Amino acid sequence: MKDIADIRETLLQRFDTLETKSDILKAPELKVMFNAIKDQSVEERAAFGHAVNQIRVELQAKVASAEAADEVIEPLDVTAPWDVNTGPIALLSTEDGSIHPLMREITVLGDIFERMGFAIEGSREIDDQYHMFESLNFPKGHPARDDYDTFMTVETDKDGEPLIAPAHTSTMQNRMLKKYKANLVADEPIAVVVPDRVFRNEDLDARHEHTFYQVEGVYVAKNVHAGMLIATLKEFLQAYYAKELDVRVNPFYFPFTEPSFEFALSCPFCDKKGCGICGYEGWIELLGCGMIHPNVLKAADIDPTVYTGFAFGCGIDRLVMMKYGIEDVRHFHSGKLDFLRQF
Ligand code: PHE
Repeated sequence: MKDIADIRETLLQRFDTLETKSDILKAPELKVMFNAIKDQSVEERAAFGHAVNQIRVELQAKVASAEAADEVIEPLDVTAPWDVNTGPIALLSTEDGSIHPLMREITVLGDIFERMGFAIEGSREIDDQYHMFESLNFPKGHPARDDYDTFMTVETDKDGEPLIAPAHTSTMQNRMLKKYKANLVADEPIAVVVPDRVFRNEDLDARHEHTFYQVEGVYVAKNVHAGMLIATLKEFLQAYYAKELDVRVNPFYFPFTEPSFEFALSCPFCDKKGCGICGYEGWIELLGCGMIHPNVLKAADIDPTVYTGFAFGCGIDRLVMMKYGIEDVRHFHSGKLDFLRQF
């Protein structure tokens, strides 16, 4: 009987290491023990047989529960065109993919700006402190640097400063001013929009995502004034929502524009009456903008006594949410087909 206890121990240990749990029921030790039943003395045979059978029952129970646990974890082969559980018999019904609503709307708004004479450029997903701050008139230690909830990386730039995931598309202003500076010499304006991804270390809720899209606009020429900024934005928004809108401009602060404004438009859903989309305000704060600060022009070697310009930065997700009455910004990155199929 002592032997039986040892063998049971051995089998239980082996069971834990087995890939195919049911193999334990074919263990040679079990067979040897079953064969040994008939060799037992008459007095011992019943007890021996019972003990051996108990081990088999115990092992069978363990195999059954291991197999049941295995079944719960459904294999997932995302590349298989058939149901991996039933094999390649019935092909899954295929479904055409579609362009993500944000990507589609970026094309729509890009077309509007293009018709208004703006070039379109892309941003980047990692940048340096110079483009995020210095070139935008945030000197080192400037308190407004903290307003941006910037994600920093452990990698550093050539000055030993952490690289960052851009928290706004304004990181592209300096590059755009430099790239299109030749326009000014030819007496053409610098007119560029940059729709792209930005990142902020924010608390997430229905209106805040850590990853979202902005469209930056930069326009520089001689005699540019704030009326042109407001008219450009109003024109763009009316084209985007295909309806007449009122706009409201309040003073604001950004280090890189002076004066700076917060720009709101009358809610396209309720025409200022107040509804769930605009939080019963009738107005929707949509973007930051202003006249480009002379220091920002100087950082790109543009003479601010000759040229002036405006810039704006508009959240695209919010623009799209308002167009379609999407109530939660997190739907965009959820990957939920129920949401995506609506577009
Ligand atoms: N970059 C600002 C923001 O994201 C918006 C902005 C862009 C303001 C351009 C002024 C000019 O908050």
